[in-house]
Amino acid sequence: MKNITKIIKQMTLEEKAALCTGASPWTTTPIERLGVPELTVSDGPHGVRRVADVDSLLEKSLPATCFPTASCMASTWDVELIQQLGEAIAEECVALKVDVVLGPGANMKRIPQGGRNFEYYSEDPYLAGKMATSFIHGVQGKGVGTSLKHYATNNQEYQRLTINSVVDERTLREIYLPAFEMAVKNAHPWTVMCAYNRLNGTYCSEHHKLLVDILENEWGFEGFVVSDWGAVHDRIASLKGGVDLEMPGPRELRVKAVVDAVKNGSLEEARLDDAVRRILEILFKASQTPKGGSFDEATHHALARRVAGEGMVLLKNNGILPLKDPQHIAVIGRSAKNAYFQGGGSSHINPTQVDVPFVELQILAANAELSYAEGYPADESYRQEMIDEAVLLARASEVALLYICLPETKESEGYDRPDLDLTTQQVSLINAVSAVQPNTVVIINNGAPVVMSEWIEGPAAVLEAWMMGQAGGGAIADVLYGKVNPSGRLAESFPLRLVDTPAYINYPGGNGDVRYGEGIFIGYRYYDAKQVPVLFPFGYGLSYTSFTFTNLKVSTQTFKDVDGLEVSVDVTNTGKLTGKEVVQVYVHDHKSGLVRPPKELKGFAKVELQPGETKTITIPLDFRAFAYYHPGYKQWITEDGEFDILVGASATDIRNVQKVQLQSTLELPSLLNRYSTLREWLEDEQGKSVLMPMVQQMTSMMRDTFGGEGSEGIGMDVSGFMMDMPFMDMLYFFSSDLPTTPEEVVDGLLAQVHGKERYAGAVISPGDRR
Ligand code: BGC
Repeated sequence: MKNITKIIKQMTLEEKAALCTGASPWTTTPIERLGVPELTVSDGPHGVRRVADVDSLLEKSLPATCFPTASCMASTWDVELIQQLGEAIAEECVALKVDVVLGPGANMKRIPQGGRNFEYYSEDPYLAGKMATSFIHGVQGKGVGTSLKHYATNNQEYQRLTINSVVDERTLREIYLPAFEMAVKNAHPWTVMCAYNRLNGTYCSEHHKLLVDILENEWGFEGFVVSDWGAVHDRIASLKGGVDLEMPGPRELRVKAVVDAVKNGSLEEARLDDAVRRILEILFKASQTPKGGSFDEATHHALARRVAGEGMVLLKNNGILPLKDPQHIAVIGRSAKNAYFQGGGSSHINPTQVDVPFVELQILAANAELSYAEGYPADESYRQEMIDEAVLLARASEVALLYICLPETKESEGYDRPDLDLTTQQVSLINAVSAVQPNTVVIINNGAPVVMSEWIEGPAAVLEAWMMGQAGGGAIADVLYGKVNPSGRLAESFPLRLVDTPAYINYPGGNGDVRYGEGIFIGYRYYDAKQVPVLFPFGYGLSYTSFTFTNLKVSTQTFKDVDGLEVSVDVTNTGKLTGKEVVQVYVHDHKSGLVRPPKELKGFAKVELQPGETKTITIPLDFRAFAYYHPGYKQWITEDGEFDILVGASATDIRNVQKVQLQSTLELPSLLNRYSTLREWLEDEQGKSVLMPMVQQMTSMMRDTFGGEGSEGIGMDVSGFMMDMPFMDMLYFFSSDLPTTPEEVVDGLLAQVHGKERYAGAVISPGDRR
């Protein structure tokens, strides 16, 4: 390894500043005289978008495997498979001479209409964190870097470059940061990309708390922070805030600004040196992986097909699937011939090849006669004659396979979807075809949920095929014909209506702000708590076989938070086909100081079983599985008490429940302060013991002051009212009986509680009455 300290000493100020700004949209600035090579980065995250000419931002990239996008990846719930996918992407990076791939994206799907939701994993931070961790392990295990993005709260495309996400601390810690945290702590991404937007008033590209206090100091991130492309507004503020590398380049004025700032003392050179050191460390690490050669296109295409097959979710099936060798099949829908397999924007891959769904179907349906109708146009126009043609074909066949995809421009980086609807033409088409053909199967390609109430009753089966990557056409055929038994499970809830969704009234925000008013209640956390019915719940998906969960056990009924526990359950394949089930473990807290969601995913495992086979699945639950973030204590806390361990096949299909008892090992400081209410004093163990002597006297004084314990006079429960009054204010009613001011009395009590010097005058004695 190079002696980085020595290199930094030899660098001029200008060279340091230049290293911290891109030389081109995709490369850093090399320093030949010191043997510092350039570092090449490319998008991500479901393939490599390597442009041949690094000076070009948007040109068509070199061919690479387009894997299914993140929504599909996450629906596999298969951490090993996603690691393999990461390895394949790394091999392509090596061949295409890319040092760092710009992914994965670990943002939460706060709103289903988010334009980039197809690039993100889940509405659940645990699942998203697991996926991001596996992806990074896969890529970096092969000596190629990743860029975990977009850190943080980049949850909508509307005004994404400027919007201010207003998020309370607990929500940030429990919902929007944990996927990043898990990936940083467990997989150590080489780089993290800061988001475009502002968070609570500060651009993420200048957010010291986010980039330095939390990312570096709390989580121990050792790589470098790169700006999202164009996210830096004030280069000096961004360096101070924690952005090491500004992209894209070249930006000579920025280099000059950094040089000037160091010279005039407004930026400490030590901070610049730290950024330089972070970049150099990654740069030299990357240079240890020799680049060039080729990658195995066929193997990667096959892997893309596997991932697509594993991620597709069978939403509805009356038994028509798997297909039983129908002889006449009507194939309807233009996406049967024009595969819809990825979204628009920076993640857009130039695929090495594309499986055409129709062609792949014909291979598996070797004995069947396939007829085809386009069904709907590429745009949103209405064409009745296309529907009529499709109906004729469907009527004359045994089965109608309807390939439906969203219009291409609907799902893209840069803007959100205005609704969750298919086109009017598509809805009419589905209804018209399923009215004449009971064996209608709808296959939908989309990156995020669509609503289905207007048509879901009609078809016999519905397959969610996602943005399925370049090999997805084959994967659809695999699932339809049962070559692959569907095992995808939704990584996000499918709502019945857009208006039912958690952030509906807080989106898109106004006056530059979007307020995360739903707090920790996003996705199933919201639907559960509000008892809002959904179309398909989080974790849901059908199989061609069936499973039972029995014999749920916990390693211990009573446990200490730091020890955690293990949950085990027997999963049996009770059907006739080999298949895979996803065992999902949720935790429910019976009672907590702050409101918590009814249940939260804290563990899962995917298991393959032969017919009749049983396997025991063991899933560990640690401290964090039971903890919540307390903004008062500014830390994750646990509380003594009862929890339910819920094991199920989706968020609404809980099969087994086991009660456990947690013992907290935390010794939390008291949160009592001058404005704490009497109730808070009495609920606080230390506060209660300090206060008790006073309370007795006060009860009798209250009787004197208010005339009796109740208060028939004004028809309200005065004692309840008093309980919720700041204790200090309450003392004002008796201030003439106090030896000193209420403020001093309370400060004295607080001094005892917080372990400072004892306050002598806190106890009122009758003799003290003035
Ligand atoms: C996107 C990033 C991407 C970058 C480089 C930005 O607009 O938000 O996800 O990595 O461009 O293409």
